[in-house]
Amino acid sequence: MAYLQSSCMVLTTTPHHHTSPSSQSFSAKPSHFFTHPNRTHRLQVSCNSSEKQTPQGKLDRRNMLLGLGGLYGASNLASNPHSNAAPIEPPEFNKCGEAHELATNDLLDINCCPPLSDTIIDYKLPNFTKLRVRPPAHKVDKEYLAKFEEAIRRMKALDKSDPTDPRGFMQQANIHCAYCNGAHDQVGYPNLDIQVHECWLFFPFHRWYLYFYERILGELIDDPTFALPFWNWDNPKGMQMPKIFDTESSPLYNKNRNPKNRPPTIIDLGSSGASEDLQKVVNNLAVMYSEMIRSVNSTVDFMGKPYIAGQSPRPGMGSSERGSHTQAHVFVGNPKNKYYEDMGNFYSAGRDPLFYSHHANVDRMWSIWERLKTDVPKDINDPDYLNASFLFYDEKKRLVRVKVADTLDYKKMGYEYEKVDIPWLNYKPSKKAAKTKIRQIPSDAKKAEEMFPLTLNKIVRVLVNKSAKGQADEVLVLEDIETDTTKFIKFDVFVNDEDDKADELDRAEYAGTFAQVSHKTKDKKGKSTINLKLTELYEDIDIADDDFVVVTIIPRSNGGDVTIGGIKIIPSPPKSA
Ligand code: C2O
Repeated sequence: MAYLQSSCMVLTTTPHHHTSPSSQSFSAKPSHFFTHPNRTHRLQVSCNSSEKQTPQGKLDRRNMLLGLGGLYGASNLASNPHSNAAPIEPPEFNKCGEAHELATNDLLDINCCPPLSDTIIDYKLPNFTKLRVRPPAHKVDKEYLAKFEEAIRRMKALDKSDPTDPRGFMQQANIHCAYCNGAHDQVGYPNLDIQVHECWLFFPFHRWYLYFYERILGELIDDPTFALPFWNWDNPKGMQMPKIFDTESSPLYNKNRNPKNRPPTIIDLGSSGASEDLQKVVNNLAVMYSEMIRSVNSTVDFMGKPYIAGQSPRPGMGSSERGSHTQAHVFVGNPKNKYYEDMGNFYSAGRDPLFYSHHANVDRMWSIWERLKTDVPKDINDPDYLNASFLFYDEKKRLVRVKVADTLDYKKMGYEYEKVDIPWLNYKPSKKAAKTKIRQIPSDAKKAEEMFPLTLNKIVRVLVNKSAKGQADEVLVLEDIETDTTKFIKFDVFVNDEDDKADELDRAEYAGTFAQVSHKTKDKKGKSTINLKLTELYEDIDIADDDFVVVTIIPRSNGGDVTIGGIKIIPSPPKSA
C-alpha cells in the first residue's frame, strides 16, 4: 500500500469481474459473432491524483485497486509473490466495444470486434525446418506475384463467402482497429485501453500480426512456404510504393491512397518537404541512420517505452515507430479522406494490402537493429515485456494466445528476410566544414526557461544548457510533449543549425524527429517524452568547450496541436535495458 496516494471514487458499482481469458466461454453460434455487450454499465473509477512511481519507475495502479475494498480479490494479489508482475494481458473478446471515429468520437460505422471462440489455445510455434524468405516487393518475379495475388484474392473472397471467418481480409484488417482504436480495455482496468502502439509492444505485436497473416495467406493457397514481400523503403530502389501494389486490376491495389504519391513518386521519410528526388533520397538515408543508430541512446528509445497493466496507454514511441514507420503510413493514406484512410489512420490501415508489406519492412528494421554493433543493449529482459500477450486466430481458425517472448528469435517463427543492401548503415552526415562553436546566436533564441512550455505553432530556437562544458556524451530530452492524438503530428529537431535549410536532413545538425499517426484513445490528449542522443552529432559539429547549444524545433505538420513541456540536456544515462 506504500504507493496508495490516489483518492478514488467508484462511480458505478456494476461488478467487473477480473476473468482470465481462458475462462471466456461462449457459444460459437454465428448470432454471437458480432454482438458484444455494450459498455455502459461498467465500473468507472475516478481518481484525482497522482499515480505514484514504483521504484522501477512504473506507474502502479494495482495499488490503487487495493484501495477499492477487494473488488478484484486484492488479498490474493497482495499475497501473491508474483503480484508485481503486470504484463499486458490479452483482450477479453467478449467485452470488445466500439471503435470510434477519431475527431468526433462518434461511433464508426464498422464494428472491428473479432469473432468469439469458446476455446483459447496457448500457441506453440511449429518446428519450422525451412524458412519462409520474405522478398523485397520491388524485386519479385511473375510467378511469385501470381501466387501472392491469388492468396489475397482468396482472402478477400472470404469476406463475401463467410464474413465471420477470422481469416478473411476485413477480419484481418479489423485486428489492427481493435488493438489500436480503443475497442478493448485492459483486463481489469475498464478505464484504460489496450493500445499496441507508442510503447514497447509495437514491434512484437506487429511481428505476430504479420506472422498469422502470412501463414493464413499460405494456407489459402496451400503453400506453407509463402512469405510476404517487404516494402524496401530504406533502400533507394524501394523508395516508392512498390509497383505490384499499383495495378488497378490487382487485388493488391487499393483506391484509398494518395493519388499524388503513386509510383514513381519518391517517399519522403523525413517529411522534409524536399522537392528534388535526389535530396529526398539522401534525406531518407539520413533519417534511417538517425533513427536506427545516431539518435538511439537506450533500448526503449528504439523499442518504445515500457507499458504494463494498469498503466495509461501510449507511454512513448521508439525512434523507428515515430520516424520512417509513421511517414510511410502518411505517404500512402489519402489526405482527401476524412481521416487519411486507409493507411493514414490506425482503424483503417489494415485495409490496404500494402500495410502488411510496409510493416514487414518495419519488422525487418527491428531484425537489423538487433544485430547492430552499437553500445545499446538489444534485449529487454523485463518479464512484464516478455509475458505480455495477445490473441490471434491462426491459419486453422483457432484462437491462440501468443507471448512477446516468442517473437524474440524471429527465425523460430519460420521466416527470414532476403538479404539486400543496407545503404544507410554508414550514412553519417559529413562533418561541418567550420568546426567551431555556433558563430552567432540567433536573435529570436531565448533560454528554455523563458520559452517553455510552448505551443509549436512556429519554428522555435532555444538555448539549452549542456550538462557540463564540453561534455560530449549527452542526450537531448523533450519532455511532456502533449499532442492532439487525432491529428498527424510531426516536428524535427536540429542542434546548432545555422544554415536554415529545413529540407535537408543529411546534415550533421539533424538530431531527430517526432511523428505520430492519428488515432483515438479515451483521452484525446497524449503525453510523451523523446530522447535524442547527441554524442555523434557533437563529434560532427564540434561543441568544443561550449556550455550551451541552440536547439531548433521545426514543426512539419499540425504544430499548433503540440505543446512541449520542457527541454533539457542530460548526461547519457548508463546503457541498460
Ligand atoms: Cu499498427 Cu503501422 O501501425
